[in-house]
Amino acid sequence: MGVASGFVDTPYFFGRYPFYPVMQRSPVVIVIESDLTERRDKALEFAQNHNLKVKDQVDTPSPELVLAFRDDVTELRDEQVRPGRGMFVDYSSIDLRTGAGNLSRKQPLPRAIGKETKTVLDATAGFGYDAVLLACMGFEVQAVERSPVIAALLEDGLRRALLDEGLNRALGDRLRIQTGDSRDILEGMDPKPDAVYIDPMFPEKRKKSALAKKHIRLVRQIVGEDPDAGELLEVAMLHVRRRVVVKRPTHAEPLAGDPDLSFGGKLVRYDVYLPASTHRQS
Ligand SMILES: C[S@@+](CC[C@H](N)C(=O)[O-])C[C@H]1O[C@@H](n2cnc3c(N)ncnc32)[C@H](O)[C@@H]1O
Repeated sequence: MGVASGFVDTPYFFGRYPFYPVMQRSPVVIVIESDLTERRDKALEFAQNHNLKVKDQVDTPSPELVLAFRDDVTELRDEQVRPGRGMFVDYSSIDLRTGAGNLSRKQPLPRAIGKETKTVLDATAGFGYDAVLLACMGFEVQAVERSPVIAALLEDGLRRALLDEGLNRALGDRLRIQTGDSRDILEGMDPKPDAVYIDPMFPEKRKKSALAKKHIRLVRQIVGEDPDAGELLEVAMLHVRRRVVVKRPTHAEPLAGDPDLSFGGKLVRYDVYLPASTHRQS
């Protein structure tokens, strides 16, 4: 057993762009709840890389969020709200029928990503649900997440997904994940991705479903909001070949002026921005 805590007030850098602590980001502690050498080493390496302390047990009720490395899963817990009950990334409920259900290319997201698109940079990977769907649909996806804690949960979800025969087959070798700021990564990309996908944290709503409340509240405690999403869009426009897609709540203003195209769903829409070179071609 062990714990590490951090991510409070100091901005840190992956590259050129600082990761500012915004809103109410909570400190996180790492607890090792496994005797497996591989899991213990992974947790210790994570703690060391991100300058976190490792504790042997969680004080109850722990004021920090807990990132627990267990035998078979990495999970995030708020011991004050749901003691002992963690959330982890799980793609097992995805309907894997090719071309149907979750993987239908008729849905607004793949339509916004575009028929001609082969490579996608998911610039706001989060828990990777969209990235996994896009990879299962056949796009080559590089998913980038700047919060190391969210990235650890994402990486663990993908590790377990690849152990599942159906998901492994559906994903092929088409999903890569990376921790870092997408603005830095985009600036160094050669070749440029065909499409960049941006799904920033939405502004908090007053009414939320219980599930959304539970998950989103935890994520918000770690990453806050994404006030620099407009800047990410600007950088993406300079380093993309065909299009940038931005997910927005249906009734929210576009992130930056009127999009060139928009594909609406029930609760969200996908705004498409075409770089100037694409306009000239068409
Ligand atoms: C709403 S979540 C994305 C959810 C994701 N589409 C999914 O399906 O699970 C937004 C995430 O983007 C990350 N993010 C925001 N700006 C970023 C940037 N410039 N580079 C990398 N990650 C970023 C945040 O840390 C947060 O985890």
